[in-house]
Amino acid sequence: MNKTIETLLNHRSIRSFTDERLTEEEVRTLVKCAQAASTSSYVQAYSIIGVTDREKKTRLAELAGDQSYVEKNGHLFVFCADLKRHDYIAQKAGENHQEAFENTEAFLISVIDAALAAQNLSVAAESMRLGICYIGGLRNQLAEVSELLETPSYVLPLFGLVVGHPANSSSQKERLPMELIYHENTYQQDETHVDRYLKEYDEHISSYYEERSQGERKDTWSEQMIRGFRQPKRAYLSEFVKEKGFNRK
Ligand SMILES: Cc1cc2nc3c(=O)[nH]c(=O)nc-3n(C[C@H](O)[C@H](O)[C@H](O)COP(=O)(O)O)c2cc1C
Repeated sequence: MNKTIETLLNHRSIRSFTDERLTEEEVRTLVKCAQAASTSSYVQAYSIIGVTDREKKTRLAELAGDQSYVEKNGHLFVFCADLKRHDYIAQKAGENHQEAFENTEAFLISVIDAALAAQNLSVAAESMRLGICYIGGLRNQLAEVSELLETPSYVLPLFGLVVGHPANSSSQKERLPMELIYHENTYQQDETHVDRYLKEYDEHISSYYEERSQGERKDTWSEQMIRGFRQPKRAYLSEFVKEKGFNRK
């Protein structure tokens, strides 16, 4: 197994970091790696905001639902969908591309670009023996996050990514069986197939939790998903995304 595959297969989120900050050089290397990711039609429709200001980090940790590791880490990155540069260029050229920027395709392109860049940064960080954790909790209150980071129209914060020196390690969470994720030629809808692999996985996850909690927690992956999707989350987002100039058409 080569080192890259080893790094990828060894992933687990880290939520406890030492006080050691990332060096400027480490941050630059990580951002360079993020930028090396593929990007739809070369548009590079994202920005990364590094947050080093202590007060801002404290406030972001609160906004993310009191996640202490948003405050205490080696570096906090916030990934944003960003078509602002593209709007600026168009305007300088005397053109108006509003309709193109505001359609669903442009929104998807920006979000996909940001996610690919973030995952490149994550893998690079893990290859440097740093730990990472994504922070979707920032979407709890995006208006406040946006105000704090001064993100204008056509710049939409999507998620945070904390990186740092792990204070302790965490265990790995086993993924769904490949048979449920990978389909060949057509989408596999056979319920017997789905049931078989889900049952296996649920049993496995249930005993994993049971073992880790000395018998107190027993739930399965399916139960977690049913609970998680019972109610729509962050329903305000569809309006907020539009307010920021994305996905209007
Ligand atoms: C976009 C995104 C947002 C996430 N947001 C949070 C978060 O706010 N807080 C957190 O502790 N973990 C967060 N996570 C981490 C996931 O919970 C984690 O990746 C998942 O449970 C699998 O565990 P693993 O990464 O250790 O394998 C997020 C992951 C992603 C991809």
